[in-house]
Amino acid sequence: MSIEFIHKDQVFHLRTPTSSYIMRIVNGRYVSHVGWFRRIRQWNGANDLSLQERSFSPNPAGSDRGFSLDILSQEYPTAGRGDFRNPAIEAVFPGGSAVFDLLYKCHRIFPGKSALKGLPATYTEADDEADTLEIDLQDPLSLLSATLSYTVWRDRDVIARSVRVVNRGTDAVALKRVMSASIDFEGSDFDLLQLSGAHCRERHPLRRKLCSGSQGIESRRGASSHQQNPFIALLASGSDEDSGEVFGFSLVYSGNFSATVEVDQFASARVSVGINPYNFGWTLESGQSFQSPELVMVRSSAGLGSMSRTYHDLYRERLCRGVYRDRIRPVVINNWEATYFDFNEKKLLALADEAASCGIDMFVLDDGWFGKRDDDKSSLGDWFLHGNKLPGGLMNLAGQINIKGLAFGLWVEPEMVSPDSDLYRAHPLWCLHVKGREGSLGRNQLVLDLSRDDVRSYLVDTLAEVFSSAPIAYVKWDMNRHMTEVESDLVSPEGQREISHRYMLGLYEILETLTIRFPDILFESCSGGGGRYDPGMLFYMPQTWTSDNTDALSRIWIQLGTSIVYPSSSMACHVSAVPNHQNGRTTPLGMRGNVAMGGSFGYELDLTGVSAPEKAEIAAQVARYKKIEGIVLFGDMYRLRNPWRDPTFSAWMSVSKDRTEAVVTCVWMLSEANSPLIILRLKGLDPDFRYLVEELGRAYGGDELMAVGITLPQGPACDNSVQYRLTEAK
Ligand code: DGJ
Repeated sequence: MSIEFIHKDQVFHLRTPTSSYIMRIVNGRYVSHVGWFRRIRQWNGANDLSLQERSFSPNPAGSDRGFSLDILSQEYPTAGRGDFRNPAIEAVFPGGSAVFDLLYKCHRIFPGKSALKGLPATYTEADDEADTLEIDLQDPLSLLSATLSYTVWRDRDVIARSVRVVNRGTDAVALKRVMSASIDFEGSDFDLLQLSGAHCRERHPLRRKLCSGSQGIESRRGASSHQQNPFIALLASGSDEDSGEVFGFSLVYSGNFSATVEVDQFASARVSVGINPYNFGWTLESGQSFQSPELVMVRSSAGLGSMSRTYHDLYRERLCRGVYRDRIRPVVINNWEATYFDFNEKKLLALADEAASCGIDMFVLDDGWFGKRDDDKSSLGDWFLHGNKLPGGLMNLAGQINIKGLAFGLWVEPEMVSPDSDLYRAHPLWCLHVKGREGSLGRNQLVLDLSRDDVRSYLVDTLAEVFSSAPIAYVKWDMNRHMTEVESDLVSPEGQREISHRYMLGLYEILETLTIRFPDILFESCSGGGGRYDPGMLFYMPQTWTSDNTDALSRIWIQLGTSIVYPSSSMACHVSAVPNHQNGRTTPLGMRGNVAMGGSFGYELDLTGVSAPEKAEIAAQVARYKKIEGIVLFGDMYRLRNPWRDPTFSAWMSVSKDRTEAVVTCVWMLSEANSPLIILRLKGLDPDFRYLVEELGRAYGGDELMAVGITLPQGPACDNSVQYRLTEAK
């Protein structure tokens, strides 16, 4: 068991392979956080509370002046009882009071992990993979209760936390804030790491020192967002890629979130992560419960890289589901950047012909195949065929593509409706809107109100019909605007604050239904690229379109930033045309290929317009990817040189789990003549193995490659990019 309750000391000791997370019941009432340390055998109180009287720190009735909630590290703090830091939960009772306690009542420990009703979450496949502790807290006056849940993996340095709030009283309670977890740290000598950016510039790592007061990130956009990813980490000062203490906090949620660190007067740090309290409220009637999303917490004593690999393994193996979880992915050609809206059957089939001759596996038909959609001004919601473009229908097109040896995939954007659509004309109140106010448009579209049962049923039925109408092997599920006027026609005034979260529950319900009904479809999520690249979506769809920015150099930032949390198997990466359509930059085809091979690989350019040598190079890239994709998608990923440390050169590698094979990719982001020599030290190899570096035709020891390194060519001599494949030399 990875969880122990030491009754005589009233101590909970949670053990991951390398860490100890310790809590203690203080005064029989308060569940206090002792710390999250490198693994110890037993906690005997070495850092025991030596509470000293502090001015302006109130004392609960009956306790001495040395005891104050303002100083106590707590697992799930409330407000109004003496702790002036960020509370984990806020609620208002019928009489208007917002003051309550959550005191220890009882607990349970059991093997395995329970599912979270209606929400995506990590899971176990066998009970011996993890153990779960549930601690019940309750307010003695109102009987508002909270069950804190901790799942501790036996073989992973992971603790997953969530909270279920239950109203055991007789009156309704208005919840204002429910964090998934609150974690107190003694001391604040940490840097805060966040993954921030914008559309086409997602997940750029940003590191800053903690300082007094609150700091953090959030999304109020109705999606986890391009701007801030639902992840933060605390990095001990001086820690880096390969050394030092790192604590990661990744929220399994796709909507509005907040992740805050508050440094208090005594330099302790409180991390609070959960649904954003902005525009949130939830009425809990007597007997009802509210389930928070899950927060996946990882502790590493060996730097950021080790934290990343723990997340990669967990998310790839126990968050993603379905047949593609463990399966290599098809190499795709997507017609978006090749044709945009301007296509017909002939053009698509010509593109498919070229793709087939390059060894590509799947043809994906992007936006523009339905309704009257010739640009982005109409037809979202009208999921029936565009007769002018595809007179033979989807079945005919897919059939012809299948005959060429390619599987067929399709783009949809189900959560949206265009004002110029039959759906909107028939159901103008089916979108999020505020009665009496004009709605705001984004990319000419409105957002459907997924909190409504009728909208959800319509979408499930309509999409099921589309997905059954042809041999569809892949679906790209897009979402191209953020939410405004987040209110619904159907609910009471108080209910409006529930709509943001009810939308997410509605979306998750639709995805659950469709992914179960179509288990053989490979679903890829997308929101203008990586605008909803979060663990919530990965639960339903094992890969995400990483970014609308397909420029190879921009992609290095984006992909390596994404790799801080998310596995390579979740990143869809395509080679596109030059000059690049997003930033106008021209990069060599070899570099574009090498960078896109960092994830689930494909193309998104007009193959009918490339030269014969380029086409041969593309065919060679596809063949190469097929040799290395198992290592890239399912191996251990190591960042060797990060662009946020050195924007002139980047390198990364993947090593197969049995360490017999590896792929190393290097890119000179700044092409310089006569530049200093780079000797690149590799990581993650078996020191006792000898590896043949195929491209060099020579074998070296694993220890040698890691301690000494490998001399790289000059950037310009290799078109500023090189990829090595290593295989164990017997
Ligand atoms: C945004 C996506 O990220 C693109 O790849 C493409 O599918 C367009 N939407 C289509 O409208």
